[in-house]
Amino acid sequence: MAPPGVSGMMLGVMPGGEDVQGQRLEHLRRVLAATEAPQGGPVEGLVVTRPENRFYLTGFTGSSGYVLVSLQHALLLTDFRYTEQAAQQAPAFEVVRHGSPWFETLAERACALGLTHLGFEADHLSVADLQAMQAAVPGVRLTPLCGVVEQLRLVKEPAEIEIIARAAACSEGALRKVLESGVLRPGVREFEVAAELEHHMRQGGASRPAFDTIVASGPRSSLPHGRASDRRLAAGDFVTMDFGALVDGYCSDITRTVVIGRASPEQRRLYDLVLRAQLAGLGAVAPGAGGRAADEAARAIIRDAGHGDHFGHGLGHGVGIAIHEGPRLSPLSDSILQPGMVTSVEPGVYLPGWGGVRIEDLVAVTGDGCRVLTDSTKELIELL
Ligand code: GLY
Ligand code: MN
Ligand code: MN
Repeated sequence: MAPPGVSGMMLGVMPGGEDVQGQRLEHLRRVLAATEAPQGGPVEGLVVTRPENRFYLTGFTGSSGYVLVSLQHALLLTDFRYTEQAAQQAPAFEVVRHGSPWFETLAERACALGLTHLGFEADHLSVADLQAMQAAVPGVRLTPLCGVVEQLRLVKEPAEIEIIARAAACSEGALRKVLESGVLRPGVREFEVAAELEHHMRQGGASRPAFDTIVASGPRSSLPHGRASDRRLAAGDFVTMDFGALVDGYCSDITRTVVIGRASPEQRRLYDLVLRAQLAGLGAVAPGAGGRAADEAARAIIRDAGHGDHFGHGLGHGVGIAIHEGPRLSPLSDSILQPGMVTSVEPGVYLPGWGGVRIEDLVAVTGDGCRVLTDSTKELIELL
């Protein structure tokens, strides 16, 4: 069967259909027209191989396809399995059925269109494919470009934010059901908790989880990315659940940490610290703020409490078609937040061998601050 790709969406046309595709194409063409190759000369077009970028430009949800956008032309190359679907979903594109390998068809079309200088996605195309592509188009200069379409994806359109809000509501609905179901009790395996979350997300309209569900209990809660395991929950455990839904091609991302039974004073202290940091991070997300400054607003609180070394990841990351994309909130970030960006805010403190806490919300930057898309309670939940 098909390899994994952006295949979550129903066989629908993206909201706004041809108009939205036309606007995104126009935006991309403006960027391309202003792109000079490092060795000089404007590129005449871009070959898009990254599935998320293909979906963004075309709305095509098949598992395999390639895009060629020049200043005059927009082609979507796919194979026999998908040509009918591609024509329905990508009305702004000429759909071309490619042979094997795909880049020979690309080469033929590029030559027929008289293109002599194309950019490619250097942060995605493999070295082997680049070499084979260059051999197929000896007369075309291929210039490595990075992040061209990703830049366009940074600021979401209002309709994209509403889809992400629906994805967030879907994951929160699953959390509510899991909290009510009684599955969070001693003896239940982390796998089972993950399965319940994923089941309810699908029941609520998700095509799949946005990423491998994290359920990390007891001492495993010190693993920031502790995928669910066969460990059985025990009384007194912290349980960190980090999960998201893929809805209409867009991801959500939320983390809540709960306690099985009564929280100890140490657990409550740690939870309150992470919550204070998370609220400070949320308060620092605003248009014009730097990703580094937002990170520091939360990090300073954790550092001042003596846990600086126990918070080893960034405060947040952009979320959209990909679960991890720009902007970045971290000590190394050069992102400047703008209205329409969507980011997570997710500080954590992880004490090896003992446990940890992370609290994560998803927010959209607005004209004067941010809109929190996940509104599940952040009071410490004790499952008695
Ligand atoms: N689960 C991925 C993240 O929160 O970044
Ligand atoms: Mn997460
Ligand atoms: Mn996240």
